[in-house]
Amino acid sequence: MAKEIASGIFFVGYVDWELRDFHSFETRRGVTYNSFLIMDKKVTLIDAVKAPFCKNLMKNIEERASLDSIEYIIVNHAEPDHASGLKELLGCCKNATIVCSGKCKEILSGYNDISNWKFQIVKTGDRLPLGSRTLEFIETPMVHWPDSMFTFAVEDKVLFSMDAFGQHYSSSNKFDDEVDYCEAMEEAKRYYANIIMPFGRQVISVLEKLSKYEIKMIVPAHGIIWKKYLKEILKLYSQWANFICKPKVLVIYDTMWQSTKLMADAIYAGSSKKNIETKILSVRSVGLTDIASEVLDAPVIAFGCSTLNMTMLPSMGALLTYLKGLAPKNKFALLFGSYGWGKGAVEDMQEMVKKCGFELINTDIKAKWQPSSEILSECKKAGERLADKAIEIYNNQKK
Ligand code: FEO
Repeated sequence: MAKEIASGIFFVGYVDWELRDFHSFETRRGVTYNSFLIMDKKVTLIDAVKAPFCKNLMKNIEERASLDSIEYIIVNHAEPDHASGLKELLGCCKNATIVCSGKCKEILSGYNDISNWKFQIVKTGDRLPLGSRTLEFIETPMVHWPDSMFTFAVEDKVLFSMDAFGQHYSSSNKFDDEVDYCEAMEEAKRYYANIIMPFGRQVISVLEKLSKYEIKMIVPAHGIIWKKYLKEILKLYSQWANFICKPKVLVIYDTMWQSTKLMADAIYAGSSKKNIETKILSVRSVGLTDIASEVLDAPVIAFGCSTLNMTMLPSMGALLTYLKGLAPKNKFALLFGSYGWGKGAVEDMQEMVKKCGFELINTDIKAKWQPSSEILSECKKAGERLADKAIEIYNNQKK
């Protein structure tokens, strides 16, 4: 259904309530593929949808305009969740020209035969008059692909921000004040942590560019539109991009026969004694998407794992591989774990944790078979030191 979000601008995208795995992102609240139709002298579509939902998109468009009346399709980003529907769409929108960055055209050509597609390549500051309104383009490379671009509807003061500020969050409502505030912010954080986190430096540069614009509404390509809580989401993006942390300790572990769990519990007991936020996350029970979201604002993390076949358990290997790609900054880590007839988990975790960019702040704690009371006492004291470190980092960043 085409729903008007601003005068003459209609949501024509698709809400997928069912998807639970978006290339390994655990989308527990589904996904939306936002696409918008601008009804002006030059009828314009902002972004398409994933190929399976192209017919839904076209049906929504046809509630307002014929497909051959579309003059421009703005492609802010070539990733297939937005652009794989273009082939079918262009087959029906015979008069449409794709407006995109040069990099976007290059990537589209990697996925499609574009020999019959019409293009207009734009750069930052270029403007496109549509009749009663003008679109201005802002290139945002590596937020989060090299082709990424924002489109600003100048007179409407509406910013179409592609993946940035998005959330994997299905809703029949379109605006931030029509949904549960905590859910929306939680999903915005999960989205940032799992999709945008590696590109903090580029996000800071984009936020600087945006400060020159008077914006009434940020319209991402996923999830709800920021209108009432615009300042809040911009502030959070600045905090996340700068890795501003909370006074918080995470104890992330996996265990075979409960020895490493006993150590995790002791570290937790030590840290939580200091009355700061401390969480135990079992890699076997908590998904990678949620763990990444917790890591985003935690300055100190204890990683623990039992040894299996002279190395760490596969769950911990998967987590550390994932975190290496997300490249969190300003993080400190303690390693711990148990072993039996052969060591290997903590030793291999050391290498991986360093590749993730964490600074190791303490000597590792290892237990042979079951941890002794001395080892558990050491874990508890280490937990207290981790909490002190988290408090110190938190206080320093406020100076
Ligand atoms: Fe929603 Fe980078 O695609």
